[in-house]
Amino acid sequence: MYSAQDERRLFDKAKYLIDNNENDDRTTAEQLRAVIVYADWKYYVQNEPTLADKEYDTLFAKLKQIEARHPELITPDSPTHRVAMGLSERFPAVSHLVPMLSLDNTYNSDDLTDWDRRCRELAGTDNITYCIEPKYDGASVSIIYENDLLTRGATRGDGVMGEDVTVNVKQIRSIPLSAKLKEFGIRQMEIRGEIVIHKKVFEEYNKQRIADGLAPLANPRNAASGTLRILDPAEVRKRGLNAILYHISDYTLEQGAERPEALATHFGSLTWLYDLGFPSPAKEMKVCNSIAEVIEYCAEFEGRRDDLPFEVDGLVIKVNDFALQDRMGMTSHHPRWAVAYKFKARQATSKLRRVEFQVGRVGTITPVAKIDPVHIGGVTVSSISLFNEDVIREKDVRIGDTVLVERAGDVIPYIVKPLSELRDGTEEPIVYPTTCPACASQLEKLPEEAAWRCINISCPVQVVERIIHFASKDAMDIRSMGNANVQKFHDLGLLPDIPGIYHINWDKVRTLEGFGDKSVTNLQQAIENSKKQPLYRVIFGLGIRHVGETTAKTLASAVGHLTDFYEWDVEKLTTLQDIGPKVATSVADFFARTENRRMIDMLAEAGVNLANDHKNQATTDGALSGKTFLFTGTLSRFKRSDAEAMVEEKGGAILGGVSSKLNYLVVGADAGSKLEKAKKLGTINILTEDEFMTLIQG
Ligand code: IVH
Repeated sequence: MYSAQDERRLFDKAKYLIDNNENDDRTTAEQLRAVIVYADWKYYVQNEPTLADKEYDTLFAKLKQIEARHPELITPDSPTHRVAMGLSERFPAVSHLVPMLSLDNTYNSDDLTDWDRRCRELAGTDNITYCIEPKYDGASVSIIYENDLLTRGATRGDGVMGEDVTVNVKQIRSIPLSAKLKEFGIRQMEIRGEIVIHKKVFEEYNKQRIADGLAPLANPRNAASGTLRILDPAEVRKRGLNAILYHISDYTLEQGAERPEALATHFGSLTWLYDLGFPSPAKEMKVCNSIAEVIEYCAEFEGRRDDLPFEVDGLVIKVNDFALQDRMGMTSHHPRWAVAYKFKARQATSKLRRVEFQVGRVGTITPVAKIDPVHIGGVTVSSISLFNEDVIREKDVRIGDTVLVERAGDVIPYIVKPLSELRDGTEEPIVYPTTCPACASQLEKLPEEAAWRCINISCPVQVVERIIHFASKDAMDIRSMGNANVQKFHDLGLLPDIPGIYHINWDKVRTLEGFGDKSVTNLQQAIENSKKQPLYRVIFGLGIRHVGETTAKTLASAVGHLTDFYEWDVEKLTTLQDIGPKVATSVADFFARTENRRMIDMLAEAGVNLANDHKNQATTDGALSGKTFLFTGTLSRFKRSDAEAMVEEKGGAILGGVSSKLNYLVVGADAGSKLEKAKKLGTINILTEDEFMTLIQG
C-alpha cells in the first residue's frame, strides 16, 4: 500500500499539518485527507498507531473546518463522511449480488482428510494448494465498491437479502472509503468479510457498561453484530469496530480490461487487497501443499488461538486456485472449495443449582450463579457472576434451569441464556434478598445504580474485605496479610478493623497453628514497613468508592496531609485532574463521616505515614528532579499509573492540577479543560505521549 518512503513522507506531512496549512485550502484538504487515510490504515489495518489520538483529532477537525467553509471541496470518499447523520428508519433490505453462503464444518483430522479426498475428486487433480486463515468470530458483511468508491455495506441477513448498513460500515476506520480499483480495470467489486471487535475493546466496553449499571454484552461476536445494526452511527463509531475482509465474491471489469494477474488465486487476491489498503488476513495466511500440512497447522494454531486480538472460533481452509474453485462449485449452503475447521467448543450446558449473594468491599451485592462444574476451553467453571438484578430479570434465569455457558477466549465466563425449552416446571425464580446476607441490614439501591448495597459500615464481610484490600499489593503491600489470615484473625477477634492491623496481639497469634516465630516476625516486619508507604497507597487502601489507584495518586498529590481533605468540599475536589462529581461526592462523603475520621486518627496514632512529603516538590536526584508532570486525556501508549511511576522513578513529581508550578502536561486523546488552562498559562510544556517517551528515555 505504502512504500517506506511514502510512509515517512505522510508521517512528516501529518506532523507538519497539525500546526500549519498548505498555501490554499484545496491543497490543505487534499493533504489532510491523504494523511488521515494513512493514519487510519496504520492504526486499523497495521495495528501500529502513528499519531497520538489528539493529533489525529486535530487533523480531522481541520479537514472538517475546510469542508464546512468550502463544500465544493468535499470529495465522496472524504474521511469526514464516516461521521454520518443519525438514521431515522430501520435499515432497508437489499439483495446480495451473489448469495452469502455459509461454510461446512470439520472438527478433527479425519474430517479434514475426508474433505481433502472429496476436493481431489471434484477438482480432478491431486495437486491442490490450500490456504488457511483464521475463522473470525464476528458478523459477516458484504461491501461493494463501484468506480473506486465504497457504495454499499450490507449484513448477511438470510444470505440472499441483507440489511443496508452502509452508514455504519463507513464508521469502521479500517475499511477504505475508496480504493484504486479502476487502475486494475475493475469497475465494481464485492468483498466479503467479518466485522469484529477487539477482545480488549470489548472488555473495556463491558466494564463501562457494568459501571453504568447496564447489563454487559454477551460476547465480542454479539457486540459486533449488534453494533452493526444500531441506529446511531456516532455510537457505532465510539464502539471501535474492526473488519477483516477475506473473500472477493464478485467483480466486473471495465470494458476491454483484462483480469488482474493477482485474481487467479485466493492468496494472490488477498495479498492484492492488502496492498491496496484493505484489512485482509494476508499476513495471517498459511499456504499448504498437502492435507497433512493443513492438519499440522490446525493443531498448532489452536494452541495459540488466544494470542490474536480478536476472537477466533476456528480456521478456514480454502482451495487456492480460483479455476479449481469454479470447477468444484457449491451447494445451496456452502462452497465445496472451502471448509471450516472448528476449534473445541467454548460453550457448554450445565444446571444452575443456586445463587449466592456476595457482599463486596463497598457493600455491593453481586449475585453469583453456582452451576454443576463444566469444562470449557481448558478450565472448569462452577461459579459465574450474574452481575446484578437487571441481568437476572433480562435473561429470566431460574434455579434448576439448564443454562448455556460460554467462555469466549480469555474473557470471563458468563451465562448466555437459560434453555427454557428444557424446563419441566420445577424451576424456581431467583429471589433477590432485601437484607444483607452477611449482617441482615436492609439493602438499599440508589435510583441511578443497578446494584443493591449493604450500607452497614460494620457489616462483617465488608470489614474483612476492606482489611484485605488495605493490606493488598497495590495498597499497603503487607505480604502474608492475605484473605486467609485476615479472615482468621478477624474471626478470632484479633483484627476488628483496619487500624487493628497495627495492634495485633502477637502472643495470641503465636499460639495459632502455623504461626511460628519466623512467620510472626516476617508479618510484624511487613506491617512495620507499611507505615512508611506513600500517601497515595493509604488513600487507595482506604477503599473509598470510585477511588482507584490513579485517583488516589491525584488526591495524594493535592494535599500535604490526609486530614487536609476534611476541609475539601465537592466543588474543590472536582477541580482536580479527572475527578468528576460522582467521585468527588464519594470522597467528600467519606471524609465527612465520623467513623472514617476516627479510623484515620487511629492510623496516625499507630505511626502510619499520612503526609505527602512530595507535595509540589520533586526529589532532588534523578534526571527529572525538580520537574513536575501531569497527565490528561486518554493515554494510548501506556497506562497512566505506569507513566506516573516512570516520572517518580526519575525524581519527578506528579501534580494534581494545572498551575504555574506545573512543568509538563502530557496529553492523550480528548484532553479538555486541563489542556486549555495549560495553553492559557503559556509556561507549561505540552507533550504528546511520544514526546514524553523521548523525554523519559533521554
Ligand atoms: S469464507 C463463500 N473465510 O464464518 C465464502 N468465512 O460459519 C464463505 N467467517 O458466514 C465465507 N472467518 O461469516 C470465510 N476467513 C473466513 C471467515 C469466514 C469467518 C464466517 C463467515 C461465514 C461463517 C460460516
